[in-house]
Amino acid sequence: MTQPSAPDVAADLLRIHRVITRGLEVSLQHSRTSLDPASAPGFVTYAQTLGWVLHGHHVGEDQMAFPTFRRKQVDGPYLLLVAEHGQMQAILDEVRPVLDWLAAEPGDTGSLASVHRAFSRLSEIWYPHIGREEEHFTAEILGAAIGAEEQLSLARGLAEHAQQNSGPAYLAAPFVMYNLSAEDRADLLRVMPPEVTQHLVPVVCKDQWAPMKPFLVDVD
Ligand SMILES: [Fe+2]
Ligand SMILES: [Fe+2]
Repeated sequence: MTQPSAPDVAADLLRIHRVITRGLEVSLQHSRTSLDPASAPGFVTYAQTLGWVLHGHHVGEDQMAFPTFRRKQVDGPYLLLVAEHGQMQAILDEVRPVLDWLAAEPGDTGSLASVHRAFSRLSEIWYPHIGREEEHFTAEILGAAIGAEEQLSLARGLAEHAQQNSGPAYLAAPFVMYNLSAEDRADLLRVMPPEVTQHLVPVVCKDQWAPMKPFLVDVD
């Protein structure tokens, strides 16, 4: 039986960054040329879910993580980070209708190219952005500023908040779980509700997220 892990907001941030980084890389790779008609609907769902998960992550940082860090006097370039969230959200808002169009017209290479360009611009912001966050919000720094109990409540709050702001859970939960290495996934499963990981994802909603499978890891 798995043991509950110690609260570690820095590790949670690193893990969701890895999910989003893989999501961006996969989306860039598959939007480079043309889509295989069989997997095109799955790609569109995958890219749409990436947008939702990224949105949920930013909202959680803006509304919960950063205010807590600031209150605890953790040093960081908060104004810049929040501004970058806004820049990335503007790109997501721009790409969303294009993805909706691609869902109807998967052979439209012009729209696919515009999705690719949008994700390329987003990546240019994403990598330096997470570099700043991971440099300023390490386990050591957060551990020194925020007590274990408060980290636990922040970690739970962030997880709940992400669930509410990441679009449909039947897509966001498998997206997060299966864009991770097995080791990261094992850590994540310790903190996700069992009703989601053991029931919602593998049983109740398995057909709804199945089209994303070609783009995920470790799923049959
Ligand atoms: Fe961020
Ligand atoms: Fe982040």
